[in-house]
Amino acid sequence: MSHDSVLIIFASPMDIFENKVLDESRQGEALVLDATLGVGNKKLFLESYGCAMNFSDSEIVASILAGKGYSSTSDYNEADLILINTCSVREGAEQRVRGRLKTFNALKRKNPKLMIGVLGCMAERLKSQFLEQEKIVDLVVGPDAYRDLPSLIESVEGGLKSVNVLLSLEETYADISPVRLDSNGVTAFISITRGCDNMCSFCVVPFTRGRERSRNPESIIAEAKDLFERGYREVTLLGQNVDSYLWAEGKPKKELSGEELRSAFTFANLLEATAKISSDLRVRFSTSNPQDMTDDVLHAIAKYENICNYIHLPVQSGSSSMLERMNRGYSREKYLERIAAIRRIIPDAGISTDIITGFCGETEEEHRDTISLLKQVQFDFAYMFAYSERPGTLAHKKYKDDVPEAVKKNRLQEVIALQQEHSAERTKKGLGKVHRVLIEGVSKKSNDRLYGRNSQNTVVVFPKGNHIKGEYVNVLVNEVTPATLLGDVV
Ligand code: SAH
Ligand code: F3S
Repeated sequence: MSHDSVLIIFASPMDIFENKVLDESRQGEALVLDATLGVGNKKLFLESYGCAMNFSDSEIVASILAGKGYSSTSDYNEADLILINTCSVREGAEQRVRGRLKTFNALKRKNPKLMIGVLGCMAERLKSQFLEQEKIVDLVVGPDAYRDLPSLIESVEGGLKSVNVLLSLEETYADISPVRLDSNGVTAFISITRGCDNMCSFCVVPFTRGRERSRNPESIIAEAKDLFERGYREVTLLGQNVDSYLWAEGKPKKELSGEELRSAFTFANLLEATAKISSDLRVRFSTSNPQDMTDDVLHAIAKYENICNYIHLPVQSGSSSMLERMNRGYSREKYLERIAAIRRIIPDAGISTDIITGFCGETEEEHRDTISLLKQVQFDFAYMFAYSERPGTLAHKKYKDDVPEAVKKNRLQEVIALQQEHSAERTKKGLGKVHRVLIEGVSKKSNDRLYGRNSQNTVVVFPKGNHIKGEYVNVLVNEVTPATLLGDVV
């Protein structure tokens, strides 16, 4: 795609000039991905932090660079090019990236030819500021500019520093066949949308990943089929809000007439089409959105045995006034109505959520509403975070980050403790039942045991026997830990 057709969305000037240390990645931990693949005489070390979308993007980057003669290495000491795919959602991951850059700085002093690049959300947020702050960085590339990597690298080889942080209205990398990195050969991610139009007031993602756009379903189905033919048995369809997926011959949603909207290809249609590839291909998806999740989606999940009965439906807060300040577009009642719909249509569904404690102006009463919602829903699992202000977001402009750090942390601890009880209770419900498990590999704790997940996304561990990864087995569960089911193949 040429740059003529891209829209430049710089977030507010605040974003560009403010020098704040930022927050950590999704799920509070930054995951490091080492890539080992490909042929070529130049070596790429690629590390990813943050959400699944970043991992998926790294696979696109590896594919683009394989075409430029780069093969991957898991040892950064032998790299010609080091790329870090970054996250800006919370503080830890950004701090970790800065820490990593310090490590790489030492390498660069020994080997001035080494090129170092920052990709992803931090690149988009900080733009050329990165080059000034982190003198060792040669390349800054935003999430929609990866096709430009080969030419940006050439500029660096020619002695320049390079930045491309243009965001796009169209880029979906639909035609790029991702190189599967760090793969177990069984499960894979497929991006179905990019960007987000929701504008939750706390969230930096709409600024770092740009406007929402859906990917052509043919390319999604082709990618899933290809994976299945190569032995993969599970795909996870990824988007910031999968429920807003919509395809009408590439036309932006806003330009569609009523009739075009009615006949457009929806997320429910996409789920069905993916499920029909083979009954042996499991389909998962993330992330669902309470504003947009329709009963059609739930009926599609219920209808196909191979669409997993697991929904990640972030609530953020149990208080309607809080949800309004968060600009989430639903109330507590509407959220609970969606949970009731899930339980009605998919009775055995696993449900997880995201919670933020201590968002701007959160009163004790609003916090109690979150506690009571957790008690009412009894989630199987939750990702829980203390609010961390992000420059440029609506909340940063409109509200004061006025809940004291200690209060945010105390509320978070309370939420975590309660959720741990619920998770343990929910896991216990699997005891004495037979679970269909897709085997993903050897258990980390024991070479004699294998692990996989059941439809509800709970990890199941069992003796190896003659089984291998990629196979489906039925496991009778006879023991549980707070988060894992243990049993024997029957
Ligand atoms: N729709 C996305 C959300 C990405 S951010 C998705 O695919 O999950 C993931 C989670 O991080 C959010 O659901 C929210 O709970 C949390 N989060 C986002 N911004 C945050 C902030 N400023 N402080 C704390 N947590 C935040
Ligand atoms: Fe962020 Fe809300 Fe989108 S949490 S990614 S703005 S759905």
